[in-house]
Amino acid sequence: MNIIGKSHAKIILMGEHCVVYGKPALAVPISSVNLTAQLTKATSGQTIQCKYFIGDLSQAPADLLGIKRLIQSVLQSFHQQNTPFLLKINSSIPSERGMGSSAATAIAVTRALYQFFQKPLTHAKLLEVSNIEEKITHGNPSGIDTATASSNLPVRFIPGKPIEHLPINLKGDLIIADSGIKGRTDIAVNSVHEKYVHQPKLGKPAIDQLGVLARKAEYNLVHNQPQALGQAMNHAQKELALLGVSTPALDKLIQVARQHGAYGAKLTGSGLGGCVIALAPDNKAKNVAQAFLNQGAVNTYIEHFKTQGGVQ
Ligand code: MEV
Repeated sequence: MNIIGKSHAKIILMGEHCVVYGKPALAVPISSVNLTAQLTKATSGQTIQCKYFIGDLSQAPADLLGIKRLIQSVLQSFHQQNTPFLLKINSSIPSERGMGSSAATAIAVTRALYQFFQKPLTHAKLLEVSNIEEKITHGNPSGIDTATASSNLPVRFIPGKPIEHLPINLKGDLIIADSGIKGRTDIAVNSVHEKYVHQPKLGKPAIDQLGVLARKAEYNLVHNQPQALGQAMNHAQKELALLGVSTPALDKLIQVARQHGAYGAKLTGSGLGGCVIALAPDNKAKNVAQAFLNQGAVNTYIEHFKTQGGVQ
C-alpha cells in the first residue's frame, strides 16, 4: 500500500495584522509550491522521514511536536497506536516565511493517515485534525493557514465567522519573493498592538484602512481588476510600513517589483522578514522574479491566476 496525502502553500494577499482586530484577511493557495506525505506499511517502528529529522516518531524533535501529537491523536482515535509505518514528508515550502508550511504538513499528513486506515474524511474533520498541530506550533492560530492549504480557491477569513471560499476571476501572475529572513510574527504583532493602543491616531486608522483595502481587493479578485488590485496592494504596503512592520530590505524588493512592471507589491504575513508579493501581467512575471533575485531574494515562486477558475 502506497498512500500519498497532498497539500500546498498559502500566502496572505491582503489583511495581515488587521485580521487580529476582527477585520477580513484574504489568503490565496499557492499550488505550485507543494508538499506530499507518503505513508507506507512497515514491519516495525513508526518512522518519520523529513528535511529536519529521520527516526522514530517517539524521538521527534520539539519542532515536530505538533505533527507528532496530530499523528498520535489520529492513531488513538482508530485504536492503531502500535501500527508500524514509514511516513515520508517531502516539501518545497520554506518554513517560517509566512507560506503556511506547518499547516500544509498537517493537512497532507491527515489526508494520508485517513487514506491509510481507509476512513472517510470530511473537510470539517480535516481542518479539526490539522488544527491539533497548528495549536501546538502557533499557540493561537486563526485557522486561515489550514483552510487555505486545503483549498484550491482563495479564502476570506474574518475571526469568529465561517470561512468563505472566493471564486477567483483574475488575469495575472502573483510573484512571491523569499527575503531569506525569518518572519517575526510575535514581535510584529506586539509592535502593531503597541501602536494601536499607545498611538491610536496612527494605529487605528491604519488598521481600519487595511480592512477596507482587504474588502476592495476581494472585489478586484473576483471581477478581474488586476490594476485596481495592484493599487490596493500598494496602498496596504503604505499602511503596513506606517505600522512599522516593513524593513529596508522588504521596501527595496517591493520597489524593484514596481519598477519591473508589477501592478502592485507589498509584504505578506507578519513582516519584519518573510516574503513579499507582487501582482504583474503574466508577460512581466519572469522579469519581476529576476529583479527580485537581483535584489537579494533567496527564492521566488510564480503563481498563475486564471479567469473563471481557481489557481492553476
Ligand atoms: C501572520 O501570518 C499574519 C498576522 O496577521 C498575524 C495573525 O493573523 O495571527 C500578522
